[in-house]
Amino acid sequence: MIATSEYTLRDVQISLQPSAKEMMGMDFLCFTSPWNEQDYHEMQKQPAFNNWLLEIPAVCSIGMLAFQSVPPELEILRLGVHPDWRKRGFAEFMLEQLEILAKSDRIESLWLEVHAANKSAVSLYSKLAYKETGSRKNYYRNPSGDALLFKKLLKHDT
Ligand SMILES: CC(C)(COP(=O)(O)OP(=O)(O)OC[C@H]1O[C@@H](n2cnc3c(N)ncnc32)[C@H](O)[C@@H]1OP(=O)(O)O)[C@@H](O)C(=O)NCCC(=O)NCCS
Repeated sequence: MIATSEYTLRDVQISLQPSAKEMMGMDFLCFTSPWNEQDYHEMQKQPAFNNWLLEIPAVCSIGMLAFQSVPPELEILRLGVHPDWRKRGFAEFMLEQLEILAKSDRIESLWLEVHAANKSAVSLYSKLAYKETGSRKNYYRNPSGDALLFKKLLKHDT
């Protein structure tokens, strides 16, 4: 068993080209409605699609991010942290890294949909200055519920 308390943000690394199988494995641990390996295979063929696996090298994988980037917009599709590694800043770290990448890639805004009952995620995006811009009624199944739309406009140095 891994002693998660031994590791901090200093120990993590982002793998930029994980396999569909690796992504599926982490997705399965993070979400109640996971994407399967075939879903990731299909998405990885799309030029706008990117996926990151957050790892502690030679130890384990602890989180994931999937997004599609079509300048000037970037949509966050999946963000998850392994249940044993939550509440330690890893999701915030991935979103900070995403902003750095986005700014260097002509992205002006980041957006996403999140289940209205997902308090952790809503709190996370609010903390990072994403603004609620709308909702979609009964958008989700398993569990059912509304989707909230969040958006963050990026400030670019001129
Ligand atoms: C949402 C999720 C990605 C957060 O990951 P995490 O690494 O635990 O988050 P962080 O430690 O970076 O937390 C950053 C902020 O998010 C919010 N947050 C995270 N977990 C929270 C919780 N359980 N309750 C309330 N707020 C929470 C807080 O604002 C927190 O800031 P704080 O530590 O100053 O209070 C994680 O809970 C997860 O994987 N959930 C399942 C998948 C999911 O719902 N993904 C989001 C779909 S869009």
